[in-house]
Amino acid sequence: MHTRRRFLGTLFGAGAAAAAWPERLDALALGLAGHGAGGPEEDPFWELVRGEFMIPEDRLFLNPATLGPQPRVVVDAVTEHTRRTAETYPPAVDWDGLKTRVGGLIGADPAGLVFPRNTTEAMSFVANGLELGPGDEVLTTDHEHIGGLSCWELLAARREVVVRQLPLPVPATSADEIVALFRDAITPRTRVLSVSHVTFTNGTVLPILALADLCRERGLVCVVDGAHPPGMMRVDLAALGPIDFYASSPHKWLGAPMGTGLLWMAEPWRTRLWPTLASGGWDDLALGAHRFNHMGTTDESRLAGLDAAVRLHATIGPDRIEARNRFLRRRLHDAIAAIPGVTIASPSDETLVAGMVSFRFGSVDSLELQRRLAARANVRTRVISEYGYGWMRLAPHIYNTIEEIDRVADLIAEEAR
Ligand SMILES: Cc1ncc(COP(=O)(O)O)c(C=O)c1O
Repeated sequence: MHTRRRFLGTLFGAGAAAAAWPERLDALALGLAGHGAGGPEEDPFWELVRGEFMIPEDRLFLNPATLGPQPRVVVDAVTEHTRRTAETYPPAVDWDGLKTRVGGLIGADPAGLVFPRNTTEAMSFVANGLELGPGDEVLTTDHEHIGGLSCWELLAARREVVVRQLPLPVPATSADEIVALFRDAITPRTRVLSVSHVTFTNGTVLPILALADLCRERGLVCVVDGAHPPGMMRVDLAALGPIDFYASSPHKWLGAPMGTGLLWMAEPWRTRLWPTLASGGWDDLALGAHRFNHMGTTDESRLAGLDAAVRLHATIGPDRIEARNRFLRRRLHDAIAAIPGVTIASPSDETLVAGMVSFRFGSVDSLELQRRLAARANVRTRVISEYGYGWMRLAPHIYNTIEEIDRVADLIAEEAR
């Protein structure tokens, strides 16, 4: 234990004093071991987990899909790193250790990892780094977030690239219909397929494996906006098929510090993609994907926080986290679906949905409902106004209690009357 602590203490700062947050993580692991097996319905276990997150007592938080609440260990890791940087200049990042642990989180070959600030930046690195020109087509959907879409729109404005947004079925009922949508839309000018892994609008899980295979078959670049899955559900990039790029924002469901992104790129791109940010080493192909981590001076404390968030996730257990998340989402989904007059926009099939329940009432303005829920019980939600959908989106996560889920469903039923 002592040795391990010393080792951790030196991860993000040579010769630094031992960090305190790994001890907190050890204590949590012990506590959890004494609170049951962590099954999805075992609230005592999850209440202990909730205690790690800095959520005010009276807040009913249902929006990690925008920005997650931060765990104490993350805040401590960031703070400690900041202090160490001030005290023991110069700071240092253990890139290999960080990449190995983050690679473990998403089942990715660590050598392909880059750490931009967020999904938006990661997607821009991809779009700006490809060689696309007039008439080249990018296929995407009408459920993309601006953070995964604007990079392509910029290429449309600047280089006459053609962006085609295919209409996803709402709610989706089969993976095959989504794959067929793309298969039918590919033309000889199509170069890129860029889709969300899980849509921000209604939590639809896209069939990435089949879409990646389609891309391979037709010679397209497969870009996945994976802003949501890490920290919410198991991610195994090695099993997602021959994707080319995966972009993410662990400051959402994983609870990493705000401004912490991920980009993973497949082997051939590590030497082929043009960097958007050029600093020393940008053209040193021996660096592979690490060329893209040369961004000038950045806030490395966020990487210390990311490391702590990944360790917390491993301590709680990725399978337990996904099972708890799915259990709470399903309970909320079913309760809301039972309210007369509601139209659910999220898929019902568990293989096609993750993390979110989106819906609307015919007569109720979702923004008004959002205001009412916030005023009545400090409920934090998101309304999907994009594309004119007008859906209320609820995104429960591991720290929500069963009582909270039932409470918010009851409140919504009352408001619908
Ligand atoms: C699917 C998706 N992509 C991209 C983004 C942008 O994320 P960020 O602001 O972290 O870049 C979001 C944010 O909600 C999102 O939901």
